[in-house]
Amino acid sequence: MSDLIRRQIPFSPPDISESEIEEVCNALRSGWITTGPRTKLLERRLAAYIETGDTHFDTESDPDRWSNRVVCLNSATAAEELNLRILGIKEGDEVIVPAYTYTATASAAIHCGATVKFVDIQKDGDAVTHMPEIDYNTLDSMITEKTKAIIAVDLSGIVCDYEKLFAIVESKKALFTPLESDGTPLGELSSRIQKSIGRIAVVCDAAHALGASRVFNGKRRYVGDIADFTSFSFHAVKNFTTAEGGAATWHSFDGVDNKEIYKFYQLLSLHGQNKDALAKTKVGAWEYDIIGPWYKCNMTDIMAAIGLRQLDRYQGLLERREAIIKQYDKTCDELGISHLIHHTNCMDSSNHLYFIRILGIDIETRNRLIEKMAEYGVATNVHYKPLPMMTAYGNDCSDYPNAYDYYKNLITLPLNTLLSDDDVKYVCRIICAVFLEDKA
Ligand SMILES: Cc1ncc(COP(=O)(O)O)c(C=O)c1O
Repeated sequence: MSDLIRRQIPFSPPDISESEIEEVCNALRSGWITTGPRTKLLERRLAAYIETGDTHFDTESDPDRWSNRVVCLNSATAAEELNLRILGIKEGDEVIVPAYTYTATASAAIHCGATVKFVDIQKDGDAVTHMPEIDYNTLDSMITEKTKAIIAVDLSGIVCDYEKLFAIVESKKALFTPLESDGTPLGELSSRIQKSIGRIAVVCDAAHALGASRVFNGKRRYVGDIADFTSFSFHAVKNFTTAEGGAATWHSFDGVDNKEIYKFYQLLSLHGQNKDALAKTKVGAWEYDIIGPWYKCNMTDIMAAIGLRQLDRYQGLLERREAIIKQYDKTCDELGISHLIHHTNCMDSSNHLYFIRILGIDIETRNRLIEKMAEYGVATNVHYKPLPMMTAYGNDCSDYPNAYDYYKNLITLPLNTLLSDDDVKYVCRIICAVFLEDKA
């Protein structure tokens, strides 16, 4: 290592080009900076991307087709909460959540009044991808008459086995009783959605997974077009960013008009106010009603401006991430280090996070390796400390041994599109040095 010139490798800086900066300036100069035309355009383009996989799909030739399908908001947490509220999740309901995820997956259900039941992951994760995916057998045994939703997390951008998940909820149909309307317009909508679904809802936390796809019932489908409801994160550290931000989407439900669903996302995200700021600018149209004491979590046009230009570049960003993953795969395979598999015959990940696991080591040794890499200037991370270990969730992981075992020897390597080829080579060299040194 004597010839080594030290580099500083950041974990996940945002990749913002001049085109995003220019579009933000255009938004600022336009006179419309809150939710408006740029947000609506981003929603239509995301809807088309999620359905077709094409980031440049011409949505303007048929804008109605792509409207009312995606709602842009200020975070994935808000998107997940609104998904659950539109679905009618409430006190007395149970929502099953993987023990291995970020707090927002669970907290959004708790905000709705539901009881969260954690499910352990498969031992060492999925057999092929090694992603810390739900143990489907345990999940099956946890379903009760109160279970209203299962939240699947496409962690690191790797897509869960939705065929298995849908087969489980179909097989438990007899336990499911749909919500009866409480007479309010929102309660009436939720009741119709639950009746249309007719089983426990499959809700996807796709905070990491914009652009990921999987063969589902014989056809390649993009995340957002698989589960009943999906939430995406556009937080600064994500593949695709609007600084903060997120989006909600849902599958069409028989007998329920998407326009009506979209309207309720607007109401829930804007104080329950029946006219948004743009509608109120029309001459003489000042008056509005508040139909529910709801939330404030809309996306602004400044955020959407970043998103529009990120979407133009997104295919290239995904390809760059995949190229870095290939380099990491090669190094890890040579060293015999277990790592995530982001691409299989039936699944293409969004290449968001790269986990390695040093099997057989304990937490102290893992933390020592993280410190050593930091000494060489390589920033790493751990995704995640299982939720049951957190104070808010009881500080006890004994019922989730697979989640604990997965966490204790995991390191997340830096994976971002600002890394040069030389940076990636440097990280690979440091991995070799640190792990061979530790083995010696
Ligand atoms: C798995 C998962 N779900 C949800 C979220 C919440 O995203 P946001 O910060 O956009 O609310 C995150 C954020 O990192 C996440 O990792």
